[in-house]
Amino acid sequence: MILSIESSCDDSSIAITSIKTNKLLFHKKISQELKHASYGGVVPELASRLHAIDLPNILEDTKPYIKNLKAVAVTNQPGLGVTLLEGITMAKTISIVQDIPLIAVNHLKGHIYSLFIEKREIMPILVLLISGGHTQIIEVNSFDNMKILATSLDDSVGESFDKVAKMMGLGYPGGPIVEKLAKEGDENRFNFPVPLKESNKIAFSLSGLKNAVRLKIEELGGASKIKRRDKADISASFQKSIKLHLIQKSKKIFKNSDIKDFAIVGGASANLYIRKAYRRLCREFNKNLHTVPLEFCSDNAGMIGRYAVEAYKREIFTNPYEIDIISNRKLTAGTLL
Ligand code: KG4
Ligand code: ZN
Repeated sequence: MILSIESSCDDSSIAITSIKTNKLLFHKKISQELKHASYGGVVPELASRLHAIDLPNILEDTKPYIKNLKAVAVTNQPGLGVTLLEGITMAKTISIVQDIPLIAVNHLKGHIYSLFIEKREIMPILVLLISGGHTQIIEVNSFDNMKILATSLDDSVGESFDKVAKMMGLGYPGGPIVEKLAKEGDENRFNFPVPLKESNKIAFSLSGLKNAVRLKIEELGGASKIKRRDKADISASFQKSIKLHLIQKSKKIFKNSDIKDFAIVGGASANLYIRKAYRRLCREFNKNLHTVPLEFCSDNAGMIGRYAVEAYKREIFTNPYEIDIISNRKLTAGTLL
């Protein structure tokens, strides 16, 4: 069994995964969302302190498994430095005290492997990763051959949902709130721009759209003045622009790729409106669409454990006395993950 730890942002999570069967034998997550809600976003220092309380509490529940562990895995990048360190310190300690190998897991690869929790890998596969930190399309050819085909030049999809929700005083995290409110709204009322629409660039950009939403809110009198009806119409129109943007750029990649399988992963992949648009696109291009069960879309240790099983089989281990965080590497298109 492998014990895996995730603490890259505001979710404290630990899982135990069977190396032989890929089965998730234990999985627990404590989300800090409510604790950050009043700030309209994650406060790193607060997040780090909460991990310091929650991770040991979850670890307590894994006691029956500890003697059977073959390795311990942890997210080491990318993420918030101060929160990553909480998980890393715990993993290093377990590795040293139990004398078992340590596996460092890239969080983005973890999201990709959320597709394969309790399942076998499907490869090659094109993966759209939409989370609070990233918006990318990755060509996953094998465990050790993953290439970023497109990436965001500025904000990520999840982040832009969070910021738009904040602008309207709707709370955090913004994604589920905006998606829900959008159901009551008219998506054709506001003509927000579709980012990079006239550009041939295969990339994403969300900051211009976010600004257009900001200007519209100001025009309508600001967050405190606008009515629920207007907020719903803004949410729906904003979500529609994001969808059109994602689909337009994905289409360009689909046209140039023979890969038959396509997946959406990451926190924002829980958005059913976006999923529906991809269902249509995949039908048009004759691709198989894969999605992740809702409980594993947002950050969790199950996905870290699933990746770690593959790393374990290949004996890709890290020295617990040396492991560090490398969270600021720039991930441009063409980068090998
Ligand atoms: O994958 P995740 O848990 O963390 C990162 O790795 O960043 O993603 C969290 C992000 C947040 O920005 C949240 O607002 C967004 O995912 N999100 C959504 C939805 N549910 C969560 N965005 C759009 N629609 C949703 N239903
Ligand atoms: Zn994530």
